Amino acid sequence: IKIKIVLLQWTYDIAVIKMINVGVLQRITGTLALSVFTAVLGSLQFGYNIGVVNAPQKIIEQDYNSTWMERYAEPIPPQTLTSLWSLSVAIFSIGGMLSSFSVGILSEFFGRKAMLINNVLAFIGGGLMGMSKISRSFEMMILGRFTIGAYCGLASGLVPMYVGEIAPTTLRGALGTLHQLAIVTGILMAQILGLESLLGSEQLWPVLLGVTILPTVLQMTLLPFCPESPRFLYIVRSQEHHAKSALRRLTGRLEVSEDFAEMKEEKRKMDMERKVSIAELFRSPLYQQPIIISILLQLSQQLSGINAIFYYSTDIFKNAGVESPVYATIGAGVVNCAFTIVSLFLVERMGRRTLHMLGLAGMCICAILMTIALTLLETVPSMSYLSIMAIFGFVGFFEVGPGPIPWFFVAELFSQGPRPAAIAVAGCSNWTANFLIGMSFQYVANLCGPYVFLIFALLLLFFLVFTFFRVPETRGKTFDQISATFHRHPQNMMDMDLDMDQGKAREMVKGGPE
Ligand code: GLC
Repeated sequence: IKIKIVLLQWTYDIAVIKMINVGVLQRITGTLALSVFTAVLGSLQFGYNIGVVNAPQKIIEQDYNSTWMERYAEPIPPQTLTSLWSLSVAIFSIGGMLSSFSVGILSEFFGRKAMLINNVLAFIGGGLMGMSKISRSFEMMILGRFTIGAYCGLASGLVPMYVGEIAPTTLRGALGTLHQLAIVTGILMAQILGLESLLGSEQLWPVLLGVTILPTVLQMTLLPFCPESPRFLYIVRSQEHHAKSALRRLTGRLEVSEDFAEMKEEKRKMDMERKVSIAELFRSPLYQQPIIISILLQLSQQLSGINAIFYYSTDIFKNAGVESPVYATIGAGVVNCAFTIVSLFLVERMGRRTLHMLGLAGMCICAILMTIALTLLETVPSMSYLSIMAIFGFVGFFEVGPGPIPWFFVAELFSQGPRPAAIAVAGCSNWTANFLIGMSFQYVANLCGPYVFLIFALLLLFFLVFTFFRVPETRGKTFDQISATFHRHPQNMMDMDLDMDQGKAREMVKGGPE
């Protein structure tokens, strides 16, 4: 009887999953798929440029040296070379930090398709880096990294904003995760193409860096076929007719009054509010709570230490006694992609909050395992295997929650009015923390030796506790319902979850998709 019950349960589960999948496919129209694909080409470039400088470091440094020799007839002093290289790597995040702050202004002025204009930066950045060897100029390389960083800073705000606004409510998390999936694919592509036998060679490294222009060309070709965000057209620009036709294209339905009613309600409320500036986000009690949550989620992503791995993995693996560190790095890239796909399928079922906490907790345990492995390495050489497993686990858990969720969560927490300013603030916090880790990790690692990962373990624990007490669940809620939860000042997040569940139950009664 028990076996029968289990089998029946499985059959039921499979039937439900099939129904959900059919429902999901019906809601993804060709236009929606094309628009999301086109947008995340920007995220692909973001990832590519994070990962691209890891492998060819030594080869590019040689070129810096020969340029120095030509100019000053002496080899470059090692200290200067280290400074020039660190600058080439880190200036990328400075570009991102500065530009992400202007996401709000740009997107309000040019619409969500400001992505088209952003491509100019990718052309300039890719061109400068690609031509720097032939021009014998490391200044061009550094300027190119800055410009492509500025491109990525804008893309990291514009893409989640556009995708979040065109996605149907029940798919917002899954489609939002595609931003991260494109980032990790970009990182992996850069790691593989950066192998010396491919483009990471003395002659071909300019191609490796310049090839970032290709997705730009593709994005520019496709963007004119993608509709503008209907929410932007209607709520910000009051263009009802255009908004409706964009909505029809995205949903594939002629009758869009239900989706439109929701936007109308949001607009009605927004018209009553004043325009929200960045300063106001922090002053107004309406926005204080969600902006603090947004910033802390972005910090939880970066201060988890993930980029210590992606910028310096080869070195970390070498110190942990791993025999082929370059391949271990590629392994980490593969794990990174695989677990983002896992998250893509879980995020609409398990919710953002649970996945984020699961990811943080898992990373915390892996950071402790890594510390144990590094501490015992001298006496127990097989600890290098534990360190590989710990790093793979660290990366895997990151992609379950802390990787994808903070990017689209900000867009979810705010309604149309404050959203651009909030995305700018959150993006800038992310890039600033990214810069700090990139610049300081090696220094701190030298100082703390095998205990460096304990710092991340403590930070992860802090963010876990914060998420448990402060972060609400947003799955299945409309933007309006989410911001209404904050407006009522619930005493704690348990109240919010209750509200969410009631909202969900109402949706189900109405015959909603879930
Ligand atoms: C996230 C982070 C980025 C990191 C990447 C790793 O997108 O924002 O900094 O490198 O994940 O997968």
